[in-house]
Amino acid sequence: MGEAFRLKPDAYFDPDWLKLEQQQLFPDTWCFAGTVKDFAAPGDYRVVDVGWSSLAVILGKDGTLAAVHNFCRHRGAALFDKASGNAGSTIVCPYHRWTYGLDGALRGLPDRQSCFADLDRANLSLKPAAIGVFREFVFVNPNAAARFEDWIAPVADKAWPHDLFASDVKEAVPLIYDVKCNWKIFAENAVDGYHLAYLHEQTLGGPTPDKNVWERAGDHMVWYANEDGIRHRLPKKIRDEAGSSGLIKSASATGYGGVYFLFPLTLVVPTPFGLSVTSMKPLAPDRTRLDVRQWVGPWQATDERKYIPGYDKTTGIISSENWTQPPLETGDFQTEDIWICEKVQRGLEMPGFEFGPLSRGPGAEDPIRWFHESLHRTMKLAQQQDV
Ligand code: FES
Ligand SMILES: [Fe+2]
Repeated sequence: MGEAFRLKPDAYFDPDWLKLEQQQLFPDTWCFAGTVKDFAAPGDYRVVDVGWSSLAVILGKDGTLAAVHNFCRHRGAALFDKASGNAGSTIVCPYHRWTYGLDGALRGLPDRQSCFADLDRANLSLKPAAIGVFREFVFVNPNAAARFEDWIAPVADKAWPHDLFASDVKEAVPLIYDVKCNWKIFAENAVDGYHLAYLHEQTLGGPTPDKNVWERAGDHMVWYANEDGIRHRLPKKIRDEAGSSGLIKSASATGYGGVYFLFPLTLVVPTPFGLSVTSMKPLAPDRTRLDVRQWVGPWQATDERKYIPGYDKTTGIISSENWTQPPLETGDFQTEDIWICEKVQRGLEMPGFEFGPLSRGPGAEDPIRWFHESLHRTMKLAQQQDV
């Protein structure tokens, strides 16, 4: 007998469950926001959505990175339209032109004497969010009081093979996926060691659960695989060439993970030929956006979108709605994962569906159980969520 599933099916499609996550999970959630290299000049900013919060990370005049909530303190207009750019020396709300410094302080507003004679500007700074930097990566949390060190500490001593700032490392074009499943289905699939040799037989070809292991690191998880178990994942040519790039500090080194799941919304995937960071953004109970940033070595092209199944060059979005060939014949394991996640979404919404048991083992479905434990604890779920 395996482990019982600790969430009920409605956790994956009921709008009330999403509301619960909006109240008890996402307001205090760390998520990837970019790299320190994204913020080179004062005023450089990036907007990142964490659950239902929109946060802006901005480099101040003094070189300090800060994160603020992307809403105006007057009547709430979102301040930044673009995902990234340079704000200049101030942040100006387009509605009534309240003007903030890069540090978020309210500097001025039109017609102050006649319209706001006794306004206390000091209480109307942009609302701060929390920010943290770990190995060139910038993370944000809507909760200004959140402690980054506490969240990142469990993975801080894990090996990390890539140097994003090596001279021959290039950033590839970011990818945007629109996946028709609950964000937790995508997360669970990402940490599921049981499916790799079966769903991905034609692409990854393994490893089987006995040849891979997930290690728990606080609420995070790191995946390690016995190389023999991954028949197609590390082609020898790439592995040999990778050794000459600065991207790979040590391509032949063992000890670094193949996937880092940073609870609950970020996935870091280093390989000998590149590194990608995926942020999950829940859009609806049955819909998730994936924002994927990727860095590659000198031998890789920086724009391969036209080869990605479901890529629509008009919208720039990758979606199963645009697939033109059977997903299992694409040779793309991400397509296989999206295909199965969307099938699971449909299945667990069907009347009469009940979850079966989870397989045991750190190379099988233990990580899904750990994910549920972390959700239970973080969201203070009532015991009745236990099946
Ligand atoms: S809502 Fe921003 S100035 Fe009025
Ligand atoms: Fe997969």
